[in-house]
Amino acid sequence: MSIHKILFVTSEAHPLIKTGGLADVSGSLPAALKALRRDIRIIMPAYKAAKNAIGRYTRKAELTVPGFPDTITLLEGYLPGTRITVWLVESPRHFDREGGPYVDSSGQDWPDNAERFTVFCRAVEKIALNQAGIDWQPDIVHCNDWQCGLVPALLAPASHRPATVFTIHNLAYQGLFSWSDFEALHLPPELWSMHAMEFYNQLSFIKGGIIFADMISTVSPQYAKEICTPEFGCGLEDLLSQRSEYLVGILNGADYSQWNPARDSYLTANYNPFTVENKKTNKAQLQKIFNLPHDQNIPLIGLVGRLVEQKGFDLLLAILPQLVQRNVQVAILGSGDKSLEQRLELAMLDYPDHVSAHIGYNEKLAHEIEGGADMFLMPSRYEPCGLNQIYSLRYGTLPIVRHTGGLANTVIDASDKNIADGTASGIVFKSATPESLLHAIDRAQALYAQPKKWKKLVFNAMQQDFGWRRSARQYLELYRSADRLAPKHD
Ligand code: ADP
Ligand code: GLC
Repeated sequence: MSIHKILFVTSEAHPLIKTGGLADVSGSLPAALKALRRDIRIIMPAYKAAKNAIGRYTRKAELTVPGFPDTITLLEGYLPGTRITVWLVESPRHFDREGGPYVDSSGQDWPDNAERFTVFCRAVEKIALNQAGIDWQPDIVHCNDWQCGLVPALLAPASHRPATVFTIHNLAYQGLFSWSDFEALHLPPELWSMHAMEFYNQLSFIKGGIIFADMISTVSPQYAKEICTPEFGCGLEDLLSQRSEYLVGILNGADYSQWNPARDSYLTANYNPFTVENKKTNKAQLQKIFNLPHDQNIPLIGLVGRLVEQKGFDLLLAILPQLVQRNVQVAILGSGDKSLEQRLELAMLDYPDHVSAHIGYNEKLAHEIEGGADMFLMPSRYEPCGLNQIYSLRYGTLPIVRHTGGLANTVIDASDKNIADGTASGIVFKSATPESLLHAIDRAQALYAQPKKWKKLVFNAMQQDFGWRRSARQYLELYRSADRLAPKHD
């Protein structure tokens, strides 16, 4: 059967609501699938911020779901700037509140997260089974991350069900809840089993996706291999290895309509591979914003990201004393872990001419860092795909990355051989240690000091194409595989 109707299930989508790369993917992969002439609808919770951002919407349907008294309204609108239909699952008690999608304004998980995402998944189940009164049944339900993990589990026993795909964007976030939470959710009791969603005496949403989806994917080929090992498997490596026949890695794409230095309206100066010297204007502007001395000759390293252990910011903090002696500048944008935020603030006081950080979330500044920095650092301990290194390539901001997950699949190290054959696009280092990181930055600085070589690397980086087209085709292939595996009842 050809796959035409796709229900794309996600808990965030740019520009409606975003905490990380999942939103970038959910905001751009559907467009690439639509360009391949598929009928795709995004479904996500009606967070207050998402409702405000979508602006105009209509009431599409009303439904109830098992175990909850609330009337759920399905709101219909478009992803801003596109003709992609978005359905928002409105249950005011669960989603209409200030704060983030998963945490309150003080950074604590919402205490009712299990219930919130159960209600969401139950609504998706009804739509998937064409029981929501909207006369549209998808051929494929594509679920993303733990928040949607219950959907494949709920659909598995149904007859006349669509095929299911579950994409892991980050295995470390699993949606774990207690037995008493499980009891309160009115879910089928058989889901509390080690062969279903029970995981060391907890309810694991992500296990629902991994066990019950017809096909599983993750966001890079390298991470697909890594998660089958104890180092990266977060306790799920055996299960993933058992299902490895049904697991594929598909690299994320970049949305070059949003991340293109030639047209980026956040930049002071636009540029392309032939006018890359305009980047200097952005560098000067960035030094101004970050209160760093204005100097075109000193290499400026940018970092943007969630301040969490995954991203390896602590490795950078560990080498700052040596780094400042090497005469580089570091501009950081991030928010997250309070102790990392404090350590960055202290580093700014210690090294005001070399280190500057903006704590918070700031879309414009993220673009300005890509446009103005010379290098972009991602010393991640693990990285399912990573998007900023892909953006950095396009912005000619040479990525310095650790050889892990999607970083390993997207950046080619500037070894002598790779420089000679014209494939090099950044600096790649192996171990997650301060010494390795420092050595990588030394290599980058040595290359930076050779303008001809550096220019060539920048030019090559900017030519790399990680647009969505190829990956979208791979998703279609994945949908076909899932469809072949889903039980047929007709
Ligand atoms: P992850 O999803 O693990 O956070 P990715 O590299 O896939 O990592 O995606 C991160 C996305 O979030 C990028 O678009 C990045 O620019 C953005 N981002 C992360 N932190 C911030 C921040 N503090 N301000 C603005 N954008 C941010
Ligand atoms: C996750 C991962 C990141 C990936 C993003 C989108 O948040 O940490 O590596 O790029 O999802 O798939």
